[in-house]
Amino acid sequence: MTAPAPILAIDRLRIEYPLADGGVLTAVEGATLSIAPGEIHALVGESGAGKTTIGNAVLGLLEKPGRIASGTIALDGQPFDPQKPGAIRLGRDIGAVFQDPMTSLNPLFTIESQIVETLRAHLPLDRAAARARALELLEAVGIPEPERRLSAYPHQLSGGQRQRVVIACALACEPRLLVADEPTTALDVSIQAQILDLLRGLADERGIGILLVTHNMGVVAQIADTVTIMHRGHIVESGPVAQVLRHPQADYAKALIGAVPRIDIRLDRFPMLDGANQTEAGAARDQLRAKALAVGDPSSGRDVPLLSVDNLSVDYGAGFLAGRGARAFRAVDGVSFEIRQGEVFGLVGESGCGKTTIANVVAGLRAPTGGTIRFDGQVIAGAEAAPRKGKARRAIQMIFQDPYSSLNARMRVGRILAEDLSMKSVTLSAWDLKFADPISGPTSVAKGEASCLICGRISVAAAANTITPPTSQSVRRPVLRKKTGITASRMLWRN
Ligand SMILES: Nc1ncnc2c1ncn2[C@@H]1O[C@H](COP(=O)(O)OP(=O)(O)O)[C@@H](O)[C@H]1O
Ligand SMILES: [Mg+2]
Repeated sequence: MTAPAPILAIDRLRIEYPLADGGVLTAVEGATLSIAPGEIHALVGESGAGKTTIGNAVLGLLEKPGRIASGTIALDGQPFDPQKPGAIRLGRDIGAVFQDPMTSLNPLFTIESQIVETLRAHLPLDRAAARARALELLEAVGIPEPERRLSAYPHQLSGGQRQRVVIACALACEPRLLVADEPTTALDVSIQAQILDLLRGLADERGIGILLVTHNMGVVAQIADTVTIMHRGHIVESGPVAQVLRHPQADYAKALIGAVPRIDIRLDRFPMLDGANQTEAGAARDQLRAKALAVGDPSSGRDVPLLSVDNLSVDYGAGFLAGRGARAFRAVDGVSFEIRQGEVFGLVGESGCGKTTIANVVAGLRAPTGGTIRFDGQVIAGAEAAPRKGKARRAIQMIFQDPYSSLNARMRVGRILAEDLSMKSVTLSAWDLKFADPISGPTSVAKGEASCLICGRISVAAAANTITPPTSQSVRRPVLRKKTGITASRMLWRN
């Protein structure tokens, strides 16, 4: 028996991004991989490895002036140039699912009209037939009460339901291949498992090939058949999941897999393993750590904690605007903790338990209902608190989960940082930029537009927020939507 012809075959692909300073960044070099019907092929590697670049190239969505410099891509044995308009019909030949369902859904239209529109764009269906098909699709992706959901708007669904709707849209025209780029990264762990099951089922039952871009080894182990490990634009190892995870051959693959303590424990972020990279990132990290320590060593024995939260409570939905007799919902109730100088403190709990509310109150974005917060001995929130101004306001910085919403995509990174700095009257050093993207280096980062720096974005957001020698950091799940504040902090201090 011969093996079935691959749905997707990528051969010696090289992808380049010309840079503003005249140079060229080769984001992918000599990448070869293929996906058979029913196969889930995971593409893994640390941030900036080139995974998304490959996925986008296949979808014809490479951000200009990025280009396929050489190599071929074939769908069902037919080579095509995704850069040529009309070479592939996105949504028909290939479906796409991205990390954030809100970027794929239009907030102004109902679920029904979005699925129906996708269907009618590609298939000769009348409105009634398209509606019936939309209903079937919602059922297929496991949305409860699909009839009722059809008339809902995206914001009326939960994150997991929204991602199911995106998958329903992606499957609407029965594509042969699905490119899913971090499809579960923004979801809670239990919802993540459900979406992964759904993808597995689609591959098994419909024979769809799936290119699954992920940075999460747990996801790979859970659903992928094949895995390709990338590092800095190169494929370092590829093969069946069981084989690669058990007996990795390449040094990088060994280190990467060795860094996963147990398969049932989620690895949130790959360690930086490459030598040069590590030295630069390491230097940046040390400097950041030094900035924290400059304010005070945790072992220095100073008595006053940097931050002290005492019996904090926060209510939602009460007060003047909520109307008379409105019952308040107590989101945070009697929480107390302390953070000492130089200490990284993890605030952990399931979705909705009040972590973000506490972070917002600490950062001064929301007033507490009861309790007191002291920063360096001064009351900054609570009944006796003075309004935060100037230095006191700058002393606590926040890093949000989604760097897209923190950065202006149209501004060059250098300017974003400089603007932040002029506000804070600190000088921009080469170090700050180096921290922003240890891979491409300071100059190209400063000259790049924020929208061009997919991997850099996150760290730039971090840099922009950390440039003022921080006395305390309110770090809110900066890398991904994480379950643990601990990993989030780790990104800042250890990665
Ligand atoms: N539009 C772009 N312009 C310039 N460089 C880019 C662009 N998109 C990505 N890059 C660079 O290409 C490399 C690979 O990025 P990416 O494919 O996003 O990696 P991954 O998805 O593995 O995190 C990185 O060095 C990144 O900074
Ligand atoms: Mg990516």
